[in-house]
Amino acid sequence: MLETRTVMNPLREGMRIARAPEPASIIIFGATGDLARRKLVPALYNLACDNYLPPVYNIVGFARKPRRDDEIRAEYQKAVTEFSRQKIQSQVWDSFSQNIFYVQSNLDDLDGYKRLKAELDRFDQERGTAGNRLFYLAVPPELMPEIIELLGKAELNHSTGYTRIILEKPFGRDLNSAVHLNKMLHQVFDESQIYRIDHYLGKEAVQNIFVFRFANGILEPIWNRTYINNVQITVAETVGVEQRGEYYDNSGALRDIIQNHGLQLLAVTTMEPPAEFTPDDVRSEKAQVLRSIRPQSFQEIRDGTVRGQYGPGAIGGIVVPGYRSEPEVAPESVTETYVALKLYIENWRWAGVPFYLRTGKRLPKRTTEIAIEFNLPPLMLFGKDGANQMEPNSLVFNIQPDEGISLKFESKIPGQDNRIRPVNMDFRYTSSFGEAAPEAYERLLLDSMLGDPMLFTRYDEVEAQWAFISPILDAWKHLKPPPFPNYESGTWGPKAADEFIQRDGRKWRRL
Ligand code: BG6
Repeated sequence: MLETRTVMNPLREGMRIARAPEPASIIIFGATGDLARRKLVPALYNLACDNYLPPVYNIVGFARKPRRDDEIRAEYQKAVTEFSRQKIQSQVWDSFSQNIFYVQSNLDDLDGYKRLKAELDRFDQERGTAGNRLFYLAVPPELMPEIIELLGKAELNHSTGYTRIILEKPFGRDLNSAVHLNKMLHQVFDESQIYRIDHYLGKEAVQNIFVFRFANGILEPIWNRTYINNVQITVAETVGVEQRGEYYDNSGALRDIIQNHGLQLLAVTTMEPPAEFTPDDVRSEKAQVLRSIRPQSFQEIRDGTVRGQYGPGAIGGIVVPGYRSEPEVAPESVTETYVALKLYIENWRWAGVPFYLRTGKRLPKRTTEIAIEFNLPPLMLFGKDGANQMEPNSLVFNIQPDEGISLKFESKIPGQDNRIRPVNMDFRYTSSFGEAAPEAYERLLLDSMLGDPMLFTRYDEVEAQWAFISPILDAWKHLKPPPFPNYESGTWGPKAADEFIQRDGRKWRRL
């Protein structure tokens, strides 16, 4: 089937590269949690459907709740039915589910880790998984230090094959805790064993930014402060906090999105070309540009960041509650569900170019995009008499949901006079490649099995990200929060966000 499609559509050639991971055990900490059900197990199942899993593998759930193997298998079957990209097929599911096991333990109980080790050793003997182990910590950040320590104490940090550890975000909750977590990790694992997730890097359209920038010759000459006027990065969501009120109320939009996804999108867009396309060269360039973000003073933070929190409203005709009425959210909560801010990168390429970042929950539309706005031409040949309102060129990376790239430029409207208006030149994945891209977690799980950390965040990147974010969190603690709620669900955020960008003579892009 695949071969026929490849033959029929030459554009798809080369899309699937043969990479077979070695036999391994994948151990999920927090196996009965939301992330395992919604993302990890469906991603593993999709890898199974596409024949990307190793010839032999064990998926071992490790969590506090008691479960027998058949119970966790049934639970995961439900999860896959509900959340998988590809429909569940009984033949694939039957063989996939035979590889799922469960070890029950409190996460702070060393004996449980020893039992886990005995099970993994037994699997290696009986099932041929060759000592290769991938630990996935899908647990809240406050549990991570102890788990890491106990993995070390139980000697699960090394084995006869590879041992790798994936850490789900958030990585720490400020600069100090992230530095501390890195220190702890490095006492037990080598950096080459550590895979810090930022699932935005696993998105196809984000990976394509590397290719678009570095496999094409036309961009590099204009990718700098001389030609680029400003950049807007938007992560807009329609969802509220769903079932994660407790986590979110303790976190907020700045920590939840900007610190990681927002700044990684920025880094991929602004990094220098690496010497080679290798994990360390790419990550060094990202770390470098992240370190060049100019820290902000208290006054800049006060005047240059906007916080919002959604009140009740309607999205797509559905009435939704305000943030303070969400389950497990404090009724007087001052946690932000919207942020807008401006930052500058102080290096030769970007000095003076403003980068506007915004994110929010319960906005009218789910869209993530990076919009590069270029300077207007130096001479207004056509706009002089006011008949034509010239708009600047912009290049937009549509990260989701409609992945693609579009270039906006001015064009003559057909007719006898000289009127012009902007038009778009569009590339869309679906029309060029004809197939939905894999989910971010599929790519990232596969890469971690293959030992490729390119799309994972290195310790110095995470610390550079926090070095910019932590002072904002500190300043906010000393500033009176705005009168929350300050935007209605289903609108584009607080009025203050519009006023903030208007002060620079600009507008947010209409999405
Ligand atoms: C997660 C955040 O990292 O990203 C969530 O914790 C957010 O709050 C999610 O909803 C968005 O991811 P995606 O892939 O749906 O854009």
